[in-house]
Amino acid sequence: MNTSKSVVITGRSIGGAIASLLALWFLCHRRTICSVICITFGSPMLGNESFSRAILQQRWAGNFCHVVSQHDIVPRLFFAPSIALASSSCSFQFIHHLSEENKTQLFRVVLDSLGVISQSECKSSFCPSGSYLFCTNRGAVCVDNGMLVIKLLYLTLLNGLLNSSLEDHLGYADFIQKAHWQFIENRSFMGGNLSKSSYEAGITLALESLGIASHKIKTNNFASTDKQELNSEDAKEALKKAKKLGRTRNLNSANLAIGLSKINPLRAQIEWYKASCDNSGDQMGYYDSFKQRGASKRGFKVNMNRIKLGQFWDSLIDKLEANELPYDFHKREKWVCASQFYKLLVEPLDIAEYYRNGMHRVKGHYMQHGRERRYKIFDKWWSENSTDHPNARSRFASSTQDSCFWAKVEEARDRLIKIRTEGDERKFIKMLKDITKFDQNARRMIENKEVSPDVLAKNSSYSLFIEEWKEFQSQLQLFQPQFPGIQQFLS
Ligand SMILES: *[C@@H]1O[C@H](CO)[C@@H](O)[C@H](O)[C@H]1NC(C)=O
Ligand SMILES: *[C@@H]1O[C@H](CO)[C@@H](O)[C@H](O)[C@H]1NC(C)=O
Ligand SMILES: *[C@@H]1O[C@H](CO)[C@@H](O)[C@H](O)[C@H]1NC(C)=O
Ligand SMILES: *[C@@H]1O[C@H](CO)[C@@H](O)[C@H](O)[C@H]1NC(C)=O
Ligand SMILES: *[C@@H]1O[C@H](CO)[C@@H](O)[C@H](O)[C@H]1NC(C)=O
Ligand SMILES: *[C@@H]1O[C@H](CO)[C@@H](O)[C@H](O)[C@H]1NC(C)=O
Ligand SMILES: *[C@@H]1O[C@H](CO)[C@@H](O)[C@H](O)[C@H]1NC(C)=O
Repeated sequence: MNTSKSVVITGRSIGGAIASLLALWFLCHRRTICSVICITFGSPMLGNESFSRAILQQRWAGNFCHVVSQHDIVPRLFFAPSIALASSSCSFQFIHHLSEENKTQLFRVVLDSLGVISQSECKSSFCPSGSYLFCTNRGAVCVDNGMLVIKLLYLTLLNGLLNSSLEDHLGYADFIQKAHWQFIENRSFMGGNLSKSSYEAGITLALESLGIASHKIKTNNFASTDKQELNSEDAKEALKKAKKLGRTRNLNSANLAIGLSKINPLRAQIEWYKASCDNSGDQMGYYDSFKQRGASKRGFKVNMNRIKLGQFWDSLIDKLEANELPYDFHKREKWVCASQFYKLLVEPLDIAEYYRNGMHRVKGHYMQHGRERRYKIFDKWWSENSTDHPNARSRFASSTQDSCFWAKVEEARDRLIKIRTEGDERKFIKMLKDITKFDQNARRMIENKEVSPDVLAKNSSYSLFIEEWKEFQSQLQLFQPQFPGIQQFLS
């Protein structure tokens, strides 16, 4: 773990589910150390819709590949609610001991449940997450759209209804070997119509690989040819839809880039506003100027820009979490940098607006109760992907590097008021410690020039805090008779 750059975790059957859990643990705790990929073979479904959504939101879907063979019952088992319950003891050994008749029965039950779920888009208590690689003797197809995964789990099993054997659950080595060779083979597909577009050809090839191309199905006694034709069309439509979705992701990404360039002027206006506040005679700086702005047209405009920018970034996050953007979107330098820049510039305004409107008295302080989710997400993008920049600054930053700096100032000033009426010694000392800590951190940031000049403006909230803090410290010994424990703070 400490010496390698990437880890591959793999398992079959129940082992596949365990592999997924282990991979999740890695992603939660070790992601900065190495990259993780998880490949499962015939793994049962692991989680419900919330679980699947969480994986999308964390952008982890690309780390999972689940290999499923054509007729393997295990990955499909939990879609039948009664069976999901019965096998919760986590052993699939029971399947091996079923009579042939009961095995057929089991396949039927699972197939029927899958049919209902895939057709009506109704909710199941289990939901696929990550990519699925469907393997047959003819090839392999990879899909990552949840609905399509369920549809293909259904259709590929339907085509093998007669084959209620467990061999497919045991034969992954063969499938992989074959898929490997098919990958490098020069295939001329059976569709045979070379005048088709490469798009159509791709779809046909995919259907064939799934074993559900209409003309390739051997007739058997179970399903009529008509029905097979229908299934093939069904699968074709689903595949086309999913393919379109993949293209749409890149299109969405491109459109967002255009959107970003369109909102850049709004951001530039805020930057001008910041510069003019910082140079203004009242010496209040960017944060306090905005917080105490009068009914000026300029203040109004900047506030509108703040709101519009927030809407842009929120819609971007909505798209991301609805899986409508490429997997690595949040790792692309353009977006990591743009979101960080936005956060540093605009979050101080959000904080100012929060305290201007007295929201801290209604909901509590900003950091705990007011911070928009987008900022927390951007924090994560930045910390995951940025190589720290430890090079010392010789000039003050253009934006304070801790976008929550002003919220911390507000909290510290609030504590300075509350501490005067605090009667409990323990709470008194806790507040004193918190304020001291903030003071030290702020001084360190200033020393390292990690703040922008507005922090040091004579009339800024921070400068006011420093004055209030000095005054309080000079009075601290008055509290000593009441709270002997504060001795450590008197020097
Ligand atoms: C998924 O499962 C979790 C844990 O059991 C539960 O808290 C959550 O409500 C479930 N979500 C759905 C959509 O059923
Ligand atoms: C098959 O199922 C029936 C009930 O549906 C049960 O009584 C019988 O024991 C099962 N046979 C095996 C071999 O599991
Ligand atoms: C069932 O599947 C096994 C393994 O894939 C295969 O050898 C066998 O021919 C299949 N039987 C039918 C009836 O499709
Ligand atoms: C691939 O196969 C086609 C016909 O099956 C043949 O015409 C073509 O030359 C082959 N290409 C390669 C690179 O082998
Ligand atoms: C091949 O495809 C073209 C265009 O899609 C179509 O016009 C033609 O009838 C097809 N030929 C056969 C033999 O299917
Ligand atoms: C600080 O701001 C107040 C108004 O809020 C103003 O009266 C005062 O002149 C300012 N102080 C300085 C040093 O500019
Ligand atoms: C983020 O990480 C990717 C790959 O790990 C790298 O190519 C990219 O330059 C990084 N971006 C930033 C802003 O650090």
